[in-house]
Amino acid sequence: MGLFDGKVAIVTGAGRGIGRAHALLLASQGAAVVVNDFGGGMAGEGNDTTPAQSVVDEIVAAGGKGAANHASVSNWAEAEAMITQAVETFGGLDILINNAGILRDRMSFSMDEAEWDSVIDVHLKGHFAPSKFAAAYWRNQFKSTSAPVNAKIVNTASESGLYGNAGQANYAAAKAGIASMTIVMARELERLGVRVNAIAPVARTRLTEATPGAADFMSKKAGQPDTFAPENVSAVVGWLASDLSAGVSGQVMKIQGGLVQVLRGWRPASQSTEAAEWTIDSIDRVAKSLFADQPKTVPPFLPNLGDA
Ligand SMILES: NC(=O)c1ccc[n+]([C@@H]2O[C@H](COP(=O)([O-])OP(=O)(O)OC[C@H]3O[C@@H](n4cnc5c(N)ncnc54)[C@H](O)[C@@H]3O)[C@@H](O)[C@H]2O)c1
Repeated sequence: MGLFDGKVAIVTGAGRGIGRAHALLLASQGAAVVVNDFGGGMAGEGNDTTPAQSVVDEIVAAGGKGAANHASVSNWAEAEAMITQAVETFGGLDILINNAGILRDRMSFSMDEAEWDSVIDVHLKGHFAPSKFAAAYWRNQFKSTSAPVNAKIVNTASESGLYGNAGQANYAAAKAGIASMTIVMARELERLGVRVNAIAPVARTRLTEATPGAADFMSKKAGQPDTFAPENVSAVVGWLASDLSAGVSGQVMKIQGGLVQVLRGWRPASQSTEAAEWTIDSIDRVAKSLFADQPKTVPPFLPNLGDA
């Protein structure tokens, strides 16, 4: 008996890295998996059908069910066709894992329009388009049966978007948007029986292997558990995609090595009230107490647990 016997899943960007590990885990637990991957380079250039197909071949060789999909996730029509493919090939859709992503890092003052547009497109629109069509499918199911559909979406945010990493204005804006969209869609889809959560992963993939310093930090150490392997992240995604996480929705979980955290977003840190209209002078008067606990400077990139 597998945890996902009889379930149908889509994993986007599943030809490599973290998405590949998600697809293999879900399939090993009985899910029929649509393995989406556009097969581009790290910056989204080119396309290649091989990565998605090779993961499907692995799934089938292990006795599982898989089908390749080569859509670019941000293409509206292709995203809709991907949902249709899952329904027509495997008889429905229960799980959508939005994972596909690219990087085009540049300091804001040097970033060009294509670098901005492509990263926002693949991540933000590329999460929304499949989610929109999956949600529409589930809404129709709900309307025809009046029963909760028991479906799940797991999105992929990043601590870069939640804490703000220099050199990633495009990526961080998209990832912060994904975290917000997760909460919005969790609220919208709750009554249909759809749970929507997100992860902020850290794992050894071609994206992090290209980052100076990260490759050593995340390398497999002899005799130690391999907690930076993509499979380590997939365990959390598998939990979120299963009924074991019943009741959990609108949440963001960070996984970094052996550490797992629940992250919460914007909330009031301090406040001041005034009966009259605000003026620059009255703001200046209360600013001292507003910022009493925090310097008026850029917050640190990685809050520790006490700050989080
Ligand atoms: N690796 C990390 O530590 C880390 C940290 C934070 C967030 N993430 C996020 O995790 C996700 C997976 O990253 P990864 O490290 O496995 O990277 P990866 O490059 O190994 O895999 C990403 C896959 O997405 C595919 N892809 C890119 N654009 C696509 C598109 N338009 N349509 C369909 N497929 C597309 C690529 O072909 C690639 O196979 C990304 O969203 C990334 O931003 C990763």
